Amino acid sequence: MVCLGNICRSPLAEGILKHKFPKHNFIVESAGTSNYHIGELPDKRSIEVAKKHGIDITNQRGRQFKVSDFDEFNFIYVMDTSNYKNIIALARNDGDKKKVELILNELDNELINVPDPYYGGDSGFENVFQLLNQACDRIYIKVLKNIS
Ligand code: 4NP
Repeated sequence: MVCLGNICRSPLAEGILKHKFPKHNFIVESAGTSNYHIGELPDKRSIEVAKKHGIDITNQRGRQFKVSDFDEFNFIYVMDTSNYKNIIALARNDGDKKKVELILNELDNELINVPDPYYGGDSGFENVFQLLNQACDRIYIKVLKNIS
């Protein structure tokens, strides 16, 4: 799960998807394209909205996406088209590129980007939570189909 800062959207996406896979051995991680918030806790508004929905994300710390993540992960979900461009620019080959997907492509609506809630109010975080929760439901089903 990748966004710009790895403190608002992608930590929520990580927490939500992990929460759907409690009994399975899947590795879910998040990262930022930037180095702005390395080592930091998620934004307190992300922590709060996750908590409201029964998910604890306080074990997470910000980190920057690295090229070796292409080797570690089968799916790389990005939150917006800017993240997409930045991650594709790091891809070494077509195999790397194929792993990168806009997360809202999982939904059947016309939304392309998970809105960045960083500069907005708390309601933006609830909206992000709902969008990511719907997308993660689809990802969960897709992954289970892939392994069965
Ligand atoms: P995120 O939100 O990409 O969802 O973590 C942001 C967090 C921090 C900044 C921008 C977006 N920033 O500019 O510091």
